[in-house]
Amino acid sequence: MGLTVKSTVFFFSVLLFFIPVQVFSESQDHLPGIKSKTIEDLIGMTDPAGGTAREKADLLSKGKIAYRQFCIHCHGEQGQGKGKTSPYLYPHSRDMTLGVFKFRSTPSNALPRDEDLYRTIRNGVPGTAMPAWGDVLNDQTLLALVEYIKIFSDRFQLESPDYIMPIGLEPAFDRLSIKKGAVLYRELRCDRCHGKEGERVGFLGQELNDAWGNLSKVYDLRWTELYKRGASSDEVYQTLITGMDGTPMNAYDYVSRDELWHLVHFLQSRYKQQGSALAKMSRTIYSLRVSENLDVFPQAIIWEQAPKAQVKLRSLQSIYKGTNMLTVQSLRNNKKIAFRLQWSDVSPDLAQPGYSRFLDGAALQFVSKSSIQSTYYGMGESNKPVNIWHWRADSSQQVMGREIDSHSMKLDPFREEAVEELNSSGFGTLTVQTLEDQQVQGKGMWRDGKWTVVFIRDLVTDSPFDAQFYAAGKAMIALALWDGALKEKNANKRVSFWQELKFP
Ligand code: HEC
Ligand code: HEC
Repeated sequence: MGLTVKSTVFFFSVLLFFIPVQVFSESQDHLPGIKSKTIEDLIGMTDPAGGTAREKADLLSKGKIAYRQFCIHCHGEQGQGKGKTSPYLYPHSRDMTLGVFKFRSTPSNALPRDEDLYRTIRNGVPGTAMPAWGDVLNDQTLLALVEYIKIFSDRFQLESPDYIMPIGLEPAFDRLSIKKGAVLYRELRCDRCHGKEGERVGFLGQELNDAWGNLSKVYDLRWTELYKRGASSDEVYQTLITGMDGTPMNAYDYVSRDELWHLVHFLQSRYKQQGSALAKMSRTIYSLRVSENLDVFPQAIIWEQAPKAQVKLRSLQSIYKGTNMLTVQSLRNNKKIAFRLQWSDVSPDLAQPGYSRFLDGAALQFVSKSSIQSTYYGMGESNKPVNIWHWRADSSQQVMGREIDSHSMKLDPFREEAVEELNSSGFGTLTVQTLEDQQVQGKGMWRDGKWTVVFIRDLVTDSPFDAQFYAAGKAMIALALWDGALKEKNANKRVSFWQELKFP
């Protein structure tokens, strides 16, 4: 008996010793209201024999740190989806407290399995603001995040995830299967929501809400990059058999296997050709050192030397098809640094004097103070400001290969440059720098379906609000695009995560 008491005491002191203090102190302040699912309780629930309790506590505290660094801006302190960024997003960042998830391998209305959450976090949700974290976080961190986000909903303690809905073998993708699929697509009334060929976009109407109280929207199912789960055969099959919980997209688990495959084939027969741009991607942007002068002319020969990085962008609101790839180059000499962006855009949307319209635009974002290692890529955080160089397609930009009514008059007589320098310490805190601090020059040129835009500035300035580029080391850069034709403006834009800018 004495021995048991002793070993229990021993066990608890070991436990206390290994659990980072932070878990105990912070869980009280930051997780009020989550009664039965505080970290302490979770620790208590794990098997006290062996190392599992400690491992789990480690995992949770690791997950918490990562969550606060990468997810809180959108999903909020306690997972209710009310981060500072959420008002600017559509679809809104998810409230996880209901424990309802769209992407599962499990039957409709069941909890997702760990590997489902892992996959969502790793791959992100295409067509929405939810980033693909596998690009920037390692596996261990992703697993810790999976563990941590489960504390937001009681469901994870009350139920266990269900079995995996089997996918089975795909029959031949042939004309007969597509034809049967087309008939089923009409009979099951998929067209009521998705249009005859899956082409419908936009809100479904007042009566169709999702579980989080938002209107439900469909996207063009002919473009594979808009599929949130994925457009491969298995993925579409999985969407149909498990449904997207919380949305009007029900599970078609009562339809026979073969019929589901026919539906998959019908949708796939309508896929549009994918762009080849996705082929190679580098997230590192190298700023090549040259001895020549640098200027704003977008087509200068010197750019042919500069290495190209392909940067993937995510749309924060628009669910229509737009450019999601941006080519970025950088050059510097001993005085200046220049960036050149190129992206495809079928129509140049320029400012015209006299009436407002949606303009094409592009922005570079840097960390303002070189002392800061990182800040939130969505416009910075308080005390961790970012410096933004915002180019807009005003009428001084050059447009070639297309008739458009050109006015040489500038839109804003006080704006000397097509580029404006700003600072921000989080959404809603954007401020334009004073006229004398405006030191970035820029020029855009639209030609044959493509914008080419150059930004140029001195490597080092004397403004405390500016990013500074020192010869050694590296910097962080994030990018954004607006497409006027898609009515993108302000927070409705496409953005990249932080990319590395290196000075070899
Ligand atoms: C820029 C905003 C943003 C950030 C940052 C963000 N998310 Fe999301 N997340 C979203 C949006 C928007 C959705 C909803 C997508 C939808 O409903 O189609 C979402 C959905 C989710 C879902 C639900 C998926 C499902 O099956 O329904 C999970 C889980 C999730 N995010 C986890 C995370 C984690 C973990 C992090 C941090 C590593 C994170 N998110 C960071 C915007 C964000
Ligand atoms: C009541 C309206 C409704 C009906 C009927 C409906 N869907 Fe959907 N479907 C939706 C909505 C809404 C979404 C998007 C949900 C979201 O992203 O929140 C969706 C999404 C999808 C997706 C995209 C999956 C992904 O990875 O993004 C596919 C594929 C799909 N539906 C196929 C079908 C098929 C096939 C049928 C008929 C068997 C069907 N839908 C019937 C409303 C509907």
